[in-house]
Amino acid sequence: MIRTALARSTAAASAASRSTVASLRMKHTLPKLPYDYNALEPAISAQIMEIHHSKHHNTYVNNLNAAEETLSNALAKNDVKGTIASQSAIKFNGGGHVNHSLFWLNLAPEKEGGGKLVDGQLKAAIEKQFGGLDELKKKVNAQALAIQGSGWAWLGYDPSTKSLDIVTTKDQDPLLSHVPLVGIDMWEHSYYLQHQNNKAAYLENVWKVVNWKTAEERMKQAN
Ligand SMILES: [Fe+2]
Repeated sequence: MIRTALARSTAAASAASRSTVASLRMKHTLPKLPYDYNALEPAISAQIMEIHHSKHHNTYVNNLNAAEETLSNALAKNDVKGTIASQSAIKFNGGGHVNHSLFWLNLAPEKEGGGKLVDGQLKAAIEKQFGGLDELKKKVNAQALAIQGSGWAWLGYDPSTKSLDIVTTKDQDPLLSHVPLVGIDMWEHSYYLQHQNNKAAYLENVWKVVNWKTAEERMKQAN
């Protein structure tokens, strides 16, 4: 009897603790861009940037918050099926939030150095492994164009082998196998209003505004 009462009391305390954690959890918010919507023109149009950031990314943020709320409620009720059911929404919308947050910092206006790979350890690694930036771009483009449906093309860094790798992920799956240095959004919403079905034209333009300084910083932090 005492043991049962104790078990109930422990379960209640545990649920209350989870509930407190849930209520204290910070909501995710849409990050501000470090440049204006028109700052990447002509490589990426202001219209695409505004819709991509304020509509698409914002939807991932809102849906991630809703999915985490669903998960918190399921956990508080020891609802295992509910917990499992919330996972795919968290993966999709959480990936969308993480990937886009990285993507915006991945880009820089041309007049602020966008597209310019300056001397440093990243440039040295690209030259050593790929023979230069142009060769790297060709290889990334080929893999990006081969993505079936929606996804992302990445230049990733593997700290264990100290090497760069080109990787693609499906849908909004984030890059987990490597430290992402540069991610290219290959969803139609990234280019269709500007280039329609011409993905190659989108890729040619997006390289003009890649923020290589940020990419190198990520590589340094990974070591
Ligand atoms: Fe996107």
